[in-house]
Amino acid sequence: MDRPKIFVTHRLFEGPQAKLREKFEADYWSDSERPARAEVLRRIADKEGLICLLTEKIDNELLAAAPRLRTVANIAVGFDNIDLDACTRRGVAVSNTPGVLDDTTADFAWTLLMAVARRLIEGDALCRSGQWKGWNLDQLVGADIWGKTLGILGFGRIGRAVARRARGFNMRVIYNDAMRAPVEVENEFRAEYMEGDAVLREADFVSLHVPLLPATRGLIGPREFGLMKPSAFLINTSRGPVVQEAALIAALEQGQIAGAALDVFEREPQIGHGLLRPNVVLAPHLASASLETRTRMAMMAVENTIAFFEGRRPPNLLNPDAWKK
Ligand code: GLV
Repeated sequence: MDRPKIFVTHRLFEGPQAKLREKFEADYWSDSERPARAEVLRRIADKEGLICLLTEKIDNELLAAAPRLRTVANIAVGFDNIDLDACTRRGVAVSNTPGVLDDTTADFAWTLLMAVARRLIEGDALCRSGQWKGWNLDQLVGADIWGKTLGILGFGRIGRAVARRARGFNMRVIYNDAMRAPVEVENEFRAEYMEGDAVLREADFVSLHVPLLPATRGLIGPREFGLMKPSAFLINTSRGPVVQEAALIAALEQGQIAGAALDVFEREPQIGHGLLRPNVVLAPHLASASLETRTRMAMMAVENTIAFFEGRRPPNLLNPDAWKK
């Protein structure tokens, strides 16, 4: 039997790549630069499967260019790059990689939180500049973390992993989510449910963990910054468009908040010029980027694809209606 033809838009790590080779006739994009859209559309034309990154837009145009396509495996938990309804209409089964990146992402939210509160990046720059003149009482004084209030918007797997880490810092944890967590979960994570506005008003650190949906696009805008304390920090490891970037820049300029630490941006890879400030820590969408976790994510995408072509339901199928077809 012919092996299914698939297109993989990025080099995978050794383990997942070897597994793919056994099962598929795989066309790999192997440059470190992402493939241009025209190249993706050209290569997908005769493929039955696609393994892609969150930077690939899976929309009607791509689906029209891929008449034989039956499955898409996104190497990411977020899937706002994929028009799921369009895939379902065409019977294309879509999967993602939930669960394996929660702790790694939570670690990174904390990395950002601590870096911005304690001015680590400014300190690092001072050390490298050769301008450091020695210890000084008020040099680069930041904000305490321990004992403060952590506000979490989006209390799913990642939000909870962030909350769990707050315990070691003796923090109060408050959260909001479209669905309130069961009381056992609140007790386990020592997290207190509040209205979204109350979380913004009371938190010293607001950390975002919602998926990008129509309801969360632009969730944090001028009104929300107006509610936050001038001493508070915003941490974003979710998706850039959850925050209105222009409003964030205005809030920073006007001192409505003390700072921000961002792993995601409204128009990646562009970063609003107004964000290039000392009280903003910037990262290039790295939250799940540990070797272990990225390898696991790639392996999951491979396993979802193998399951599909072996006639088994992909373990992380997002659109069961496409599977029934
Ligand atoms: C990364 O941003 C992901 O959604 O996995």
